[in-house]
Amino acid sequence: MKNILIASTLSLLLSSVAIAQTAAVSMDDQSQIPHAPKIATGEEYHQPPLDSEIPDNAYGDMIRKGQAIFVDTKREVPEYVGNGMNCVNCHMDQGKMANAAPLWGAYPMYPAYRSKNNKVNTYAERIQGCFEFSMNGTAPAADSEAMTALITYSYWLAKNAPTGVSLPGRGYPEVKQPEAGYSIERGEVVYKENCAVCHGDDGLGQMVGELYVFPPLWGKDSFNWGAGMHRINTAADFIKANMPLGKGETLTDQQAWDVAAFMNSHERPQDPRIIDGSVEKTRDKYHANDGVNLYGVEVNGKLLGQGI
Ligand code: HEC
Ligand code: HEC
Repeated sequence: MKNILIASTLSLLLSSVAIAQTAAVSMDDQSQIPHAPKIATGEEYHQPPLDSEIPDNAYGDMIRKGQAIFVDTKREVPEYVGNGMNCVNCHMDQGKMANAAPLWGAYPMYPAYRSKNNKVNTYAERIQGCFEFSMNGTAPAADSEAMTALITYSYWLAKNAPTGVSLPGRGYPEVKQPEAGYSIERGEVVYKENCAVCHGDDGLGQMVGELYVFPPLWGKDSFNWGAGMHRINTAADFIKANMPLGKGETLTDQQAWDVAAFMNSHERPQDPRIIDGSVEKTRDKYHANDGVNLYGVEVNGKLLGQGI
């Protein structure tokens, strides 16, 4: 009798551990968003409504709450954030900027079908993915107030946008890998000349008090190894269009790839999907076919992907 009790308690315990492990990650990857069409000359990007048009009622309050969480994530919802980042660091101008993965480009494209795993992912799951990987945190539940606020804010920004149409300006525009590939060494030079002034010589960003004014590009307070930005191709896309801050489109494609490779050749928090503590197994399952990345690759005699 006692043994049965122990056995059933044990299996209960074990199954709750298993649940906890699978529940830790809502979306199994941060797979690359298909690139949006280029804008035709003379055409305008989708124009989200102005903040001054936000209505003065409970709907408006929820929009403003979502905006506040998006811009000031670390301060507004610290319980969900495990690093020093805010959503707006990679989705710039309050999630409104074309070519910086704007929320108005995202919202109308969900639920999204992905043939890669034959699954449908909801908008909430996509946001949960960014909490778990980009924010290295614990995602809010789909029916939580924080999630309702973020979805309501996205819906507001997408006002008048067609559903199921990939709008120009969605995501980050593609920068194809140069024929010469990329060089971490050249990237270091690009970094020193164009990025270090804000992100620091050590890439760890700059803080005022408890908060980052210039976000970290690697290290313990940056995005983790499962985040979309850990792909050199995705980082090159983002950097070419948006960095150095205020001077997007000034680097060459080669410089964007080189500096993206330099950035992503540094340690950052572990991929939360890690299998049996093995970088090699995790690489095979999640990184081997995920764009261009250095997880599980040896660089200058050091195996990357060990976490920090
Ligand atoms: C470190 C950078 C980073 C941070 C921080 C970040 N994201 Fe993302 N986000 C990405 C990348 C990269 C993608 C995928 C873009 C691609 O593949 O083109 C993405 C995609 C998305 C998408 C889907 C976009 C689309 O067009 O389908 C949404 C929605 C989103 N993020 C919301 C958020 C929210 C909400 C937060 C804060 C809780 C956040 N992100 C924080 C980098 C980031
Ligand atoms: C003038 C200051 C400045 C310069 C120079 C600059 N950045 Fe940034 N960078 C920022 C700020 C500020 C943000 C966050 C944007 C926001 O929150 O609106 C950012 C965000 C980023 C992000 C996404 C967030 C993160 O921490 O991962 C990356 C990647 C990045 N920068 C890379 C670069 C690279 C590479 C260069 C050089 C080519 C560069 N930046 C130059 C200020 C700068």
